[in-house]
Amino acid sequence: MTVKSDAVTKVSKELLDQLNEAIAREMQVAIQYIWQHVQWGGVKGFAVHSELKSIAIAEMKHAETIAERLYYLGGIPTTKPTPIFVGTTLKEMIKRDVEDEAGAVTLYKKIIEQAVKENDVTTAFMFKGILEQEEEHHDTFTTLLEDL
Ligand SMILES: [Fe+2]
Ligand SMILES: [Fe+2]
Repeated sequence: MTVKSDAVTKVSKELLDQLNEAIAREMQVAIQYIWQHVQWGGVKGFAVHSELKSIAIAEMKHAETIAERLYYLGGIPTTKPTPIFVGTTLKEMIKRDVEDEAGAVTLYKKIIEQAVKENDVTTAFMFKGILEQEEEHHDTFTTLLEDL
């Protein structure tokens, strides 16, 4: 089913739902990382806590970028994040963050595939840029986790 919209590019409900899933996850990690940033502790936390803050801000920008695109394509951006996990120890926090970044990489590859299939070049291009950053986040958290 193609969604009715004024946009030149018409996409399916399936793709819009995927974009909303992406927004929900971006909001989740934006809050998750910023609260982890606030609740960090221990000497090892010094290296981690500024990273958490800058990545949290990057995730909020992703949420905005994706929401702009979704709205343009005729969808309404969700206001509900997927469940947030803050954790208590630094190790527990970063372990979960590695998993969430891996999840984002998987989902965004799917979105790119779907967007290409629907000839939505802009969404595919946009997600290639975001995907690159999620891979960097995954790499950063993986490296941090090695020392915790
Ligand atoms: Fe993100
Ligand atoms: Fe990320």
